[in-house]
Amino acid sequence: MSQRAFYVTTPIYYVSGNPHIGHAYTTVAADVMARTTRCTHETAHFLTGTDEHGQKIAENARIAGLEPQAFVDSLIPRWKALLDAYQITNDDFIRTTDERHERGVQRAFEILRERGDIYPGKYEGWYCTNDETFWPESKLIDGRCPNQECRREVKWLSEDDWFFRLSAYNERLLAHFKAHPQWVRPHRVYNEMLAILESGLDDISITRATLSWGIPVPGGEGVIYVWFDALLNYITAIGWESPDAAQRALFERLWPANVHLIGKEIARFHTIIWPAVLWGLGLAEPAGVIANGWLTFNEEKMSKSKGNVVDPFEIAQRFTSDAVRYFLLREAPFGQDFNFSEEAVVRRYQADLGNDLGNLLNRTLTMVEKYCDGRVPAPVDAANLPINGLAERVAASVPACDFRDALEDIWQLVTALNKMIDESKPWELRKRGETTALDACMYRLCEGLRWLAVLLHPFMPAKSQEMWRQLGFAQTPAQPWTSALRWGLAEEGTRVSKGVPLFPRLETAVEGA
Ligand code: MSP
Repeated sequence: MSQRAFYVTTPIYYVSGNPHIGHAYTTVAADVMARTTRCTHETAHFLTGTDEHGQKIAENARIAGLEPQAFVDSLIPRWKALLDAYQITNDDFIRTTDERHERGVQRAFEILRERGDIYPGKYEGWYCTNDETFWPESKLIDGRCPNQECRREVKWLSEDDWFFRLSAYNERLLAHFKAHPQWVRPHRVYNEMLAILESGLDDISITRATLSWGIPVPGGEGVIYVWFDALLNYITAIGWESPDAAQRALFERLWPANVHLIGKEIARFHTIIWPAVLWGLGLAEPAGVIANGWLTFNEEKMSKSKGNVVDPFEIAQRFTSDAVRYFLLREAPFGQDFNFSEEAVVRRYQADLGNDLGNLLNRTLTMVEKYCDGRVPAPVDAANLPINGLAERVAASVPACDFRDALEDIWQLVTALNKMIDESKPWELRKRGETTALDACMYRLCEGLRWLAVLLHPFMPAKSQEMWRQLGFAQTPAQPWTSALRWGLAEEGTRVSKGVPLFPRLETAVEGA
């Protein structure tokens, strides 16, 4: 129990509306990482959740004619349904309105205040409600929010607040960045953050005297700033300072996190403010922060406020969530923006999934039925199939968020197996009576497909399970890779059971949706 587990998190999502495919993106990435880890280490702990405080949510609740708590409660089922729709295997789901979280945030506030990292002051400045961010006058563009995706009007605030002494951590942050050039990825984001540190940090206001929706300032007026509140979820969820000893033990086991996955727009909070808060609390920084690029729609960031969003439920129903998971991680390297278009999903579905993978399974099982009486023949070696080092490469790529590389590596095996069929022409071997060569070819196909089901399981859990079933294997392809990915484990005599195509032609899928 004392053994460390791989701790991976997603951002906690604002429940100011319904989820869109951009939210599913980061969560799917974290899920693939958690599932892979469970097959390559022993354990993973995967946290996701919702960010429920802040002015924007209070305003949306008012517009909806509901109390903020009732408003967020009404939206939660939709956010949890997203996890089911995408086969997400999170171990925990934190809401910032959970008692465990609110208690932890107040405790953090008190500790930092006792240590002198939080002090009272007067806040006068510009606030963007949409981004829940304070901006200095010098950063505004034409008097508006400088975030190019927002550019909304900012409000002048003047109030007595509490401040976090961020400036005191400037040097330590710089030293940390310089000593660990990999701790923020991709490198472009690292460089942007480094430039912010080099230009000097100001202290930040971390309370809102005039707001009432949020976590109350202990022994004071107003509520704690939504970002200070939200970042702490990564430790309050796993039992930091919990009254429960078992929870505290979980914290000891899991912290520091292995990786926070985030969207690139929230890198400043996670790589500058968050480590400083942790250091103030006497805790270690997370081992890594990896930022994804944006899903765009006609070159603009997809976002609720722009209204240019793709419904993740509809798209999963149309193509299956396995195919959407595959598309999201195959289409572009993780740190890059890319356009989400239905045509692009259709292309991947038909080419990679239908033609390459689905047909490979289908052709193989048809031939095994025809030439081998529906049974896996006796084991033979892997000949020149590209399996050497494959599992190790995928196991290294996934934790680094190089999902696309991992899938490309796996696809080399898909391609090689298809090529083997085209070149060895089993139907001719059969005609010529070359049974040994025919059986060897069939074995390599079955065993190669077994490898594919195991390797693809983190990416496409339901489809790989279906492959597994059709290949006639017992249980599940979610197995420890060190034991499952050894060549020759497909047992002679296993009865295959060809079923419906893995990725049916789209017209059928659409009709059936
Ligand atoms: N609540 C804060 C995060 C607090 S974390 C301590 C927040 N929430 S959010 O709902 O606005 O979005 C969070 C995340 O959703 C982004 O950082 C990103 O991971 C994901 N995405 C939202 N829109 C996206 C795209 N269009 N494209 C890719 N990811 C997107 O910020």
